[in-house]
Amino acid sequence: MKFTHKRIDIFTISAALLLAACNGSFTDHNAVTHPTYHRDVAPILSMNCVPCHRPGGGGPFPLEQYQQVRQKARTIARVVASGFMPPWPADPGYQHFLGERVLNDTQKRIIANWVQQGCPEGARSANSIKKSGFLNYQSAIGKPDLVLELTPVSLKGDRSDRFFLSKVCGSLPKDTWVRAIEFVPGIPGLVHHFNGHIINYTQARKNHESGLRVKEVVAGTYDAVFPELELFNDDGSIPERIHSAVNYLPGMSARLLPEGLGTVRLNNRFAIVGNDLHYGPAERDTLDKSRINLFFSKVPPSRAVHELMLGTNGVSKPNPPLFVPAGRNSRHFCRFRVNQDISLISVNPHMHLLGKSIRVYALKPNGDTVRIISIPQWDFRWQYLYTFTHLMRIPAGSELVVDAVFDNTANNPNNPNKPPKDIAERLEFGGASMRASDEMLQCIINWTPYRKGDEHLSLKSGL
Ligand code: HEC
Repeated sequence: MKFTHKRIDIFTISAALLLAACNGSFTDHNAVTHPTYHRDVAPILSMNCVPCHRPGGGGPFPLEQYQQVRQKARTIARVVASGFMPPWPADPGYQHFLGERVLNDTQKRIIANWVQQGCPEGARSANSIKKSGFLNYQSAIGKPDLVLELTPVSLKGDRSDRFFLSKVCGSLPKDTWVRAIEFVPGIPGLVHHFNGHIINYTQARKNHESGLRVKEVVAGTYDAVFPELELFNDDGSIPERIHSAVNYLPGMSARLLPEGLGTVRLNNRFAIVGNDLHYGPAERDTLDKSRINLFFSKVPPSRAVHELMLGTNGVSKPNPPLFVPAGRNSRHFCRFRVNQDISLISVNPHMHLLGKSIRVYALKPNGDTVRIISIPQWDFRWQYLYTFTHLMRIPAGSELVVDAVFDNTANNPNNPNKPPKDIAERLEFGGASMRASDEMLQCIINWTPYRKGDEHLSLKSGL
């Protein structure tokens, strides 16, 4: 038996070599067996790691230069083999998205072999990592047209979650179309969430900037603190508000849609209000200086982008209601019927620490299923705004379905309660609690009314 196995092995290996030779793919083979940094490793890191592992990115250290990568080589080999890095919880077998960061087996082997062989640098080549041209601007997408510094927030090093309301005011020579708004965390490891709305003023109605710039909110004080921002017009009337114009969660990068799609207007007098600036536990006293980058559009919008929020606080409540008994798993659905032809742009599923898996799809009137996203192993740390590669048509009469499972057992390593406690949505702050130890089930979908040919419209775009 043993002998036969050996023969098969030898046969397989020679067949593989022969195939490689015939395909002229010896170079590839070489890349796997004898990889060098500049030729083989750097391109993989450039695409999949450097977007976060750069100054101002979400990763804890830069991986842009040979020495930096070499220093971390063993850990890199470990986290790449285990699949911990790059973090991409969405199942690429279910749906692909722009900027997908998933390593295939060959890429994993290149990294493993390279580390095992002592990290040979090799000759510099065109493949070498080019430093991002946007570094000076701390941006993932380009050179901003306007930078707004948020009022710095001082945080006590007492290891507790903190929530702030913040406001930054701005003025421009004239009303301006904005193509992208990027939140840049001052301390990426600490900022857990930022959700910002635009308030547009007309000069005649708001003459003086007043109100507080930043203030901590604790449970129950939100409704009292919010008016202190003094957002209303001078005569007490309510200015225009653009809801959730900027959103940040760990790992999320701002997105640039093709010109004309989803542009928002900034009046010459405006404010951006962070109604939920959430910091995770700080180990020592520290000062966070976060900022907002604005990218202007050359053209006025040709299409509007709408937001559909399913689940907690949204158009369809979780069913059964979101109550997860201690020691149990529970499954909840949100369903919403679409009454016109729409084109989906992006999807952002959201749960907290008890999330286990989530799948979102549409059931067409003819019974077909349109796959939207599947996250087989929910990971609280990585919550992206997943943008489709092309607009995705959902015909009128379809039902959008969110199917989510929560794990409130002791087997869930992220369970904040040991032993587990009953958990539900907790309503406070005028909406559902954002505190990570309470639960939420939400799926935010951006869409635009369908136009003929949308299926072929690529969402890929550069500045
Ligand atoms: C979406 C942003 C993002 C991307 C992309 C990313 N990382 Fe990370 N990486 C992080 C963050 C954040 C941490 C800290 C995680 C933690 O401590 O839980 C981290 C941690 C690490 C660590 C330290 C792990 C440890 O156990 O100490 C290594 C090594 C690493 N990343 C390598 C990589 C490599 C290699 C890639 C690409 C193949 C990559 N990362 C892609 C954000 C990212």
